[in-house]
Amino acid sequence: MKNTKNSVDELLPSRSKFSPFRILTAAKDPEAFFKMGQKKQGDPYCEWMPGMGDVYITGHPEGAKDIFSSPRETFQEFKSSLLRPLLGDQSLVVLGGDRHKREKKLMMPPFHGKRLQIYGRIIQEVTLEQIKKWKKNSKFLARTELQTITLEVILRAIFGIVDPSQHEKWRLAMSSYLNNYTPLLTLIPFLRKKIYRPWKTFLRSRETLDQYLLEEISESLKFGPETRNDILSLLLLSRDEENEGLTPIEVKDELRTLLVAGHETSAAGLSWAMYYIHNDFSIYKTALSELIPLGSLPSPEQLIELPFLNAICSEALRIHPIVPIVIRHLAHDMNLRGYRIPAGKHVAVSLILLHRHLDVWKDPDTYDPNRFINKTYSQYEYAPFGGGARRCLGAAFAPFEMKIILGTILSQVQLELIDSKKISPQLKNISMGPNSKIPMKVLKSIK
Ligand code: HEM
Repeated sequence: MKNTKNSVDELLPSRSKFSPFRILTAAKDPEAFFKMGQKKQGDPYCEWMPGMGDVYITGHPEGAKDIFSSPRETFQEFKSSLLRPLLGDQSLVVLGGDRHKREKKLMMPPFHGKRLQIYGRIIQEVTLEQIKKWKKNSKFLARTELQTITLEVILRAIFGIVDPSQHEKWRLAMSSYLNNYTPLLTLIPFLRKKIYRPWKTFLRSRETLDQYLLEEISESLKFGPETRNDILSLLLLSRDEENEGLTPIEVKDELRTLLVAGHETSAAGLSWAMYYIHNDFSIYKTALSELIPLGSLPSPEQLIELPFLNAICSEALRIHPIVPIVIRHLAHDMNLRGYRIPAGKHVAVSLILLHRHLDVWKDPDTYDPNRFINKTYSQYEYAPFGGGARRCLGAAFAPFEMKIILGTILSQVQLELIDSKKISPQLKNISMGPNSKIPMKVLKSIK
C-alpha cells in the first residue's frame, strides 16, 4: 500500500452515532446531511449507516479516484440488506466478485452501441402518447407524468410488453411493487416482519410482479427470444465464454433490478431538468433555438446530438445526483486519500459533495448548463453514474432516454411552472428526487 500517511483510527473517534433522528434527517435533506458530516470531520469522514456500520465517505476527486480506480478484487459482495428484498439475491447490485463480473458482461450488450438506437423510437412514441393527453390550459404534475413515461419505456423496451390490453395490469403491478417498499422498510430491516402490515403488503406486490415476469420469460422462451428485440429476450440469449447463459430466475431478478434502477432515476433527473428549464427563460430560449431548426418533430437521432439539450441533462444530474452516494464493501485494506481503511469496512463517494467540490465547480449551487458546453470533466470529478467495475449499467441508456423525452416535450408543447418556489431534494428508496411533484400548466398543446 502506498502513501498511507495516517491510520484509520484517526477517523474513528469523531464518527456520528446511530440515531433514528439522523436517519430521518438524511432521508429528508440528504444534501445538508453530507455537507454537515464533511464540515465537521473533513474528507474522508466517518458516518454510521444502517446495515453497514462505519462508512468512510469522500467527496474529493482524489478520493473518488482512489475508490473508482481500485482493482475489482479490492471490494467484496455487498452484504447490506437495504436493497435485497427489493432486488432479489441474484441481482447484479448485490452480487460481488466473479459472479458480478460475469453477470455484468452478460447484461451489457443490450445497453450499448447500435442496440440503443432501437429503443429511441419506442421512447419517442411513448412520450408523444403521453403529451397528447396534455390539453391547453390543463394542469398536471410533471414528476408523475415523467414517471409514467419512464415506466412505460421499461414496460415496452425492457420487458417487451407490446399488447396494450396488458399494459394496465403491468403498470399496476410495477407501481405497487415500487411504492410498497417504503423508506422505513429500506432503512430499518427490523420492521420486515409479517405482523407489520406494510411489509406484508410489499411481499404480496413482489409476488405478483415476479409471477408476471416469470410468465413473460416463459412466453419469450416458448416462441424464441431471437424473434424479439426487448431486453428481457436479449438477456435470455446472452452467453458467456463457456456458452452459459442466465437462468430464468436470474433474468427475473435482473429485470426487477432494471425496473428499480431505471425508472425513478431517469424520471427524477428529468423532473429536475424540467423544473430548471422552466424556471429560467434564458435556458428555455437557448434550448428552443437548438430545436426549432430541426422542424416540427426532431428525430431521436437528432435529439441525442444536441449539445445544449445534453448540457441541460448533465447539469441536472450534477447539481442533484439522483443516487447521492455510491458505497463499496472492502475485501482488502485500501488507501483512501492517505488513510488506511481496513478490510470489512465500507468506503463511499458522496456524489453530492463531489459535484460541488470547489476545486472543480465554480458557484456549485447554481444550475448552469453552460458548464458542460465545450468542457469535459474527468470521471473522478463528475460521476452521476458512479465508477469502476460497478458503474451504472444504464449510463449510456439513461442520458439517451432523457434527451429524447425532454427534446420531444420541448419541441411539441409549451408549458409553465405553476409554482416557481425553490424545491429541494429528498431521498426515496435509493434515489434522490425533488420534494415537489412540480405542478405545471399547458400553455400550448400538441398540434
Ligand atoms: C439518470 C438516471 C440514472 C442514474 C443517475 C443512475 C445512477 C446509478 C449509480 C450512481 C449507480 C451505482 C454505480 C456505482 O456503484 O458506482 C447505478 C447502478 C446501476 N444502474 Fe443506474 N442510474 C440511472 C439509470 C439507470 C437505468 C436507466 C438503468 C437500466 C435500465 C440502470 C441500471 C443500473 C444497474 C443495473 C446498476 C448496478 C450496476 C452494478 O452493480 O454493476 N440505471 N446507477
